[in-house]
Amino acid sequence: MAIIDRIMAKAQANVKHIVLPEGEETRNIQAAAKIVKAGIAKITVLGNPEKVKAVAAETDTCLCGIEIVDPATSEKAVSYANALYEIRKAKGMTEEEAAKKVADPMFYGVMMVKMGDADGLVSGAIHSTGDMLRPALQIIKCKPGIKTVSSCFLMESPIEEYGVMIFADCAVIPNPTAEELANIAVAAAESAKSLGEIEPKVAMLSFSTKGSAKHENVTKVQEATKIAHELAPELKLDGELQLDAAIVPEVGQLKSPGSEVAGYANVLVFPDLQAGNIGYKLVQRLGKAEAYGPILQGIAKPCNDLSRGCSVDDIVATVAITAVQAQ
Ligand code: ACO
Repeated sequence: MAIIDRIMAKAQANVKHIVLPEGEETRNIQAAAKIVKAGIAKITVLGNPEKVKAVAAETDTCLCGIEIVDPATSEKAVSYANALYEIRKAKGMTEEEAAKKVADPMFYGVMMVKMGDADGLVSGAIHSTGDMLRPALQIIKCKPGIKTVSSCFLMESPIEEYGVMIFADCAVIPNPTAEELANIAVAAAESAKSLGEIEPKVAMLSFSTKGSAKHENVTKVQEATKIAHELAPELKLDGELQLDAAIVPEVGQLKSPGSEVAGYANVLVFPDLQAGNIGYKLVQRLGKAEAYGPILQGIAKPCNDLSRGCSVDDIVATVAITAVQAQ
């Protein structure tokens, strides 16, 4: 069974409540209908009910079982504004600004999750990644003990020996420090277990393997490897490794003899966002792998981003992943 089908089945077995802030948008409405019909999650869409109904009618989509909440008139708006003011006042937010912010579905949705009125959030079909991430980072923040929110892609290769893999970070931290890179690695290993159902073998990728090249970018990956070992001593993690040394057994064992990871890695940690973002897209487009994400990791409650080019099925899959994270 494909990994995404296993995730759908998990979501159906323990139904969570997911909010879709972009509720006036066609693909979100169509996805909401599919999700509710398949019993993957309970759904609240945010938006003006008349507009939501009009968009649903245009595509002949049934809104049965979908809750519609209008942030502009919601009875919870005042309590959310008060809570948001308390969270952000130290950063200079005024009560008036907080009230204005919660009328924006992107903030209202994040407040629903923060206040426990929804288990998770999915948005980004009509917002940039930055605009989607900022409210989540400012309000939901990191899980206890984690210093950095990052992201991963759940990849499924059609090449049997590779199968399910985790790629990180492909969407959030443009130029991570060594410490951030180590945090990304530890969080990606956790995502591998919880979403990918695989025992993580983490490769810290570079253009160098075990000192074969000298450069400040290589030094950063070497430092990150050391920090990650300190953070999670039990984790199977090796670095720095070139991509072939990470995933091709003969190359891995030649360049890092005796390593449990080199040649067998299933979690690939890219040295920065340029490499990560380009890397997952190469594997998706040229390698014809399925790519699910970006999936936020290290955040206190699940909030996930969509690509603006997403399909209805992409939204359904992201909601299922978010629901499983919420379990
Ligand atoms: N982890 C935890 N908290 C964070 C992180 C992080 N990685 N990044 C920012 N924050 C927090 C900050 O501490 C700050 O909190 P505070 O206001 O309480 O002090 C808040 O979030 C806002 O921080 P800023 O520095 O103002 O946010 P910034 O403008 O740097 O935006 C963002 C952060 C949106 C993640 C930015 O780094 C970004 O745009 N990343 C790239 C996103 C992107 O374009 N990805 C590629 C496309 S996605 C794709 O192709 C699938």
